[in-house]
Amino acid sequence: MKTQPKTIAILTGGGDCPGLNAVIRAVVRTAILRYGWRVLGIEDGFDGLVGEPRWRELTLDAVRGILPRGGTILGTSNRGNPLAYPVVDGGETRLVDVSAEVVGNFRRLGAEALITVGGDGSLKIARALQERGIPMVGVPKTIDNDLRGTDVTFGYNTAVGIVTEALDRLHTTAESHHRVMVLEVMGRDAGWIALESGLAGSADVILIPEIPFDFGEICRAIDQRRERGSRFSIVVVAEGAFPCDGQKVTQVSAEENLGVERLGGIGARVAAEVENRLDVETRVVVLGHVQRGGTPSPFDRILGSRFGVKAVELVAAGEFGQMVSLAGRSVVAVDIGTAVDALNRVDPQGDLVNAAEALGISLGLPSQVR
Ligand code: F6P
Repeated sequence: MKTQPKTIAILTGGGDCPGLNAVIRAVVRTAILRYGWRVLGIEDGFDGLVGEPRWRELTLDAVRGILPRGGTILGTSNRGNPLAYPVVDGGETRLVDVSAEVVGNFRRLGAEALITVGGDGSLKIARALQERGIPMVGVPKTIDNDLRGTDVTFGYNTAVGIVTEALDRLHTTAESHHRVMVLEVMGRDAGWIALESGLAGSADVILIPEIPFDFGEICRAIDQRRERGSRFSIVVVAEGAFPCDGQKVTQVSAEENLGVERLGGIGARVAAEVENRLDVETRVVVLGHVQRGGTPSPFDRILGSRFGVKAVELVAAGEFGQMVSLAGRSVVAVDIGTAVDALNRVDPQGDLVNAAEALGISLGLPSQVR
């Protein structure tokens, strides 16, 4: 009698990011070509395991040609947390724990392991579901690079490349019009995208959530440039940055958005202050989801592929509750908890910040008073 091949499942959760398809493709190809397993793709993150399960078999054909594609062929969701799932009841939305249903649905698939590709939120859910009986392997993704336990997440390199290109483009128009251009970038409560793309794109001021800023200091830096003959300036501001005497600017609060605040608007505030205080023509650009869309960089295609291969190898070795991770030049495994217990944020005393300041970039508050 022919025995059934081992079956594994994969889902992508949270916000999409470039390189997700590289992971899916690597998981499918490694599972089928090296181990002879079947792979099921769960649709729209953990949402696909609530109610009637939504999944499809991922064959070699299903993943053909997806390596350069952005987004995720499986779909994703950053609102369907099974531990606090929004259920509309009598016109009101209640948050209900549907994790038992998710575990039951997963078991009915007949899969022996679930590979969860996600950021902070999805990997927290993955850890909880592992504790409730789903053999889990995590793969860290996010453009924000705010996960601990890995040197870098895939998606981040592409985002930095997109922002750097935007900065190069903003330079020529800022210089032509003698303007201040303020570019607001993503990153949530971590300043990695702003800091590294600001360095790569030669920004004059970089504002990050880890260093609350002073409006006077930003204006001083811009003024100093004008005195030296540069009649334009480029300011990069992370969406989570905030002034010393103020707060983050949100478009939608956590209470209004199922526990997840939507940041945005600090760029406009910075631009307005600079224009008022210095009487210099100022424009603001919000790059938004452009940073997450489109084709992944070669780095993210390779990292995503290596992560996918390693995830399947962990399943083969029965090493569950682990997350794949980049440590130096090697892909290794760490406990999922390492990644989600705290955020990976920029060290205000670290060498990146030091390098920026040595290059004459203002971080919005002089290091002596931080
Ligand atoms: O976590 C990735 C990210 O793009 C953040 O940088 C940003 O704050 C958030 O997601 C935007 O979320 P949404 O796609 O729900 O607007």
